[in-house]
Amino acid sequence: MNILVTGGAGYIGSHICIELIQTGHEIIIVDNFSNSDMEVINRLEAITKKKIIFLPIDICNQEEFEKVFQNYSIDSVIHLAGSKSVLESLNDPIKYYLQNLVCTIQLVSLMNKYKVHQLVFSSSATVYGTPEQCPIPETATLKTENPYGTTKLAVEKFLYEFAQSNHSFSIVLLRYFNPIGAHESGMIGEDPFTIPNNLMPYITQVATGKLPFLDIYGNDYSTLDGTGIRDYIHVVDLAKGHVKALESLKEKYGWRVFNLGTGEGYSVLQVVKTFEYVSGIPIPYLISDRRKGDVAISYADATKAKQQLNWAAEKTLEDMCRDAWRWQRNNPNGYKVGNIREGQLVYLTDL
Ligand code: WQD
Repeated sequence: MNILVTGGAGYIGSHICIELIQTGHEIIIVDNFSNSDMEVINRLEAITKKKIIFLPIDICNQEEFEKVFQNYSIDSVIHLAGSKSVLESLNDPIKYYLQNLVCTIQLVSLMNKYKVHQLVFSSSATVYGTPEQCPIPETATLKTENPYGTTKLAVEKFLYEFAQSNHSFSIVLLRYFNPIGAHESGMIGEDPFTIPNNLMPYITQVATGKLPFLDIYGNDYSTLDGTGIRDYIHVVDLAKGHVKALESLKEKYGWRVFNLGTGEGYSVLQVVKTFEYVSGIPIPYLISDRRKGDVAISYADATKAKQQLNWAAEKTLEDMCRDAWRWQRNNPNGYKVGNIREGQLVYLTDL
């Protein structure tokens, strides 16, 4: 099938594109490169040995974006384009409501106009807010505590109501827990433009020496070692979950939602220790104050995706740490030039 992947040059999007191509789909990437790099396209072509159709378009530029639907035959859309920083959303809610909500509504309007009736939407476990229970089922209470999470919840509700009004659509929402790791090639991975907010890219930049030490945000939570617990899922497992969701669209109409997590929680210290074990590199850290907006514990009830999508995460925390490190070790400056000799990809052997 011909799949339009918005945000396909991003960390998660690029991994999804590889899985789509390797399962025989044709892809069209639309990305404004606000949080990704053109180099990703080169890497995707090197990994898949296929020419990639990519269009440097902002999905919020409706006139430009509509041309994609006019010029290409599209069967389904996987919609990842949007902003995803909780911290930034607190400072700039307008940007987040415009990009994540208004532009998604415009996307669905174009899909409706051009009779593209299959959609996989990138949602987030953030819609659960501070969970009342763990593991968290899809039926848990939804409540958000920041503009980023609220825009994700608003899109979920919009898509639900739209699906009620238009029975020809098949829509699946995937609530991501904490994607980390990288493709086994070490050629693509997480490359934040600024100092990382998220745990794993921060750890890998400490490991390369780019950052001096890790701040662990609080060790006074009611957890096994006092540090926050999350459901870390390998980004390749997450990508495979999207392929399964896509393939389910032709079987069922209407609106469906699934958690994409492992169903297991690990603490910050467990992640640090696992990373040190697989990389052989000590990660110095300081215990600092809790981070505003953090929840103590969050991990998924992943049974619904197993039962209905026949998908479950397979990779371990060691796999996630090993693959994240291979990416960062090979690309200490991310996708920026200077990692490698021009035109020659040189990869360190595995540990
Ligand atoms: C994980 C754990 C921190 C950094 C975020 C977004 C969420 C989703 C996934 C989009 C927590 C601790 C972190 C650091 C630390 N993104 N930590 N030192 O906050 O669970 O979720 O990313 O959908 O919306 O909120 O992920 O990686 O930031 O934090 O101690 O330098 O690591 O306190 O316990 P989080 P994270």
